[in-house]
Amino acid sequence: MLPLELKDVCFAVNGRNIIDCVSVQIGAGPRTIILGANGAGKSVLMRLCHGLLQPTAGEIKWRGGNGNRRSRQAMVFQRPVMLRRSALANVVYGLKLAGFAAGECDLRARDVLEAVGLERQADRPARILSGGEQQRLALARAWALGPEVLFLDEPTANLDPGAARDVESIIAAIHATGTKIIMTTHNLGQARRLGDEILFLSQGRLVERAPVERFFRAPAAAEAAAFIKDELPWQ
Ligand SMILES: Nc1ncnc2c1ncn2[C@@H]1O[C@H](COP(=O)(O)OP(=O)(O)O)[C@@H](O)[C@H]1O
Ligand SMILES: [Mg+2]
Repeated sequence: MLPLELKDVCFAVNGRNIIDCVSVQIGAGPRTIILGANGAGKSVLMRLCHGLLQPTAGEIKWRGGNGNRRSRQAMVFQRPVMLRRSALANVVYGLKLAGFAAGECDLRARDVLEAVGLERQADRPARILSGGEQQRLALARAWALGPEVLFLDEPTANLDPGAARDVESIIAAIHATGTKIIMTTHNLGQARRLGDEILFLSQGRLVERAPVERFFRAPAAAEAAAFIKDELPWQ
């Protein structure tokens, strides 16, 4: 169902463009990082792409696929929302909603819990898991669906460095199974570690798109250069 194409997409609230005329085509394959300072519009842009918000101007088109796109894309948020059930039941619930056969759900859920290192927590209430475990569970819930595209909105922003690294390696593993990754972050190290290409957002505008290596070596947009300098002042 890729590429995903945005044409002159705006999202205005009270007359102010939070997303300001963004046009871009996002292809299958590379891990795409939406980078920018707090308030740049990353979360809003991602919600627009995932279909949780509708553009107030412009259009968003998915090409290919069978039109049943919501079942083929998943999203993980900064703060995972867990049902008052076991970790396993949280994953099974998502699978059932997505229409997986009842007999298949349990096995699939256990497999994916193992893949994120939560097999021993499977029967514990999801809400007593640590922040890092809950985020791994959120990734498991998304991964279980076998999405073509996974949207991740600052998935490690609330985690300590160890838990963040675990989440990063799970994201790499999900990508290795063929899922397209589109992730927001304001963390330059993470963008470098996980990204293939950068979309740099500043005040709702897409000011630069570049391969990761080139972006950090020689950012073309003044806003991008200033952001890198602020975040990595020793470079
Ligand atoms: N539903 C909304 N109504 C009004 N303003 C919003 C809404 N959502 C986000 N904003 C504003 O839009 C800007 C971009 O927000 P956001 O996408 O959350 O930024 P980021 O994720 O890059 O930190 C911010 O100024 C924020 O306050
Ligand atoms: Mg955000």
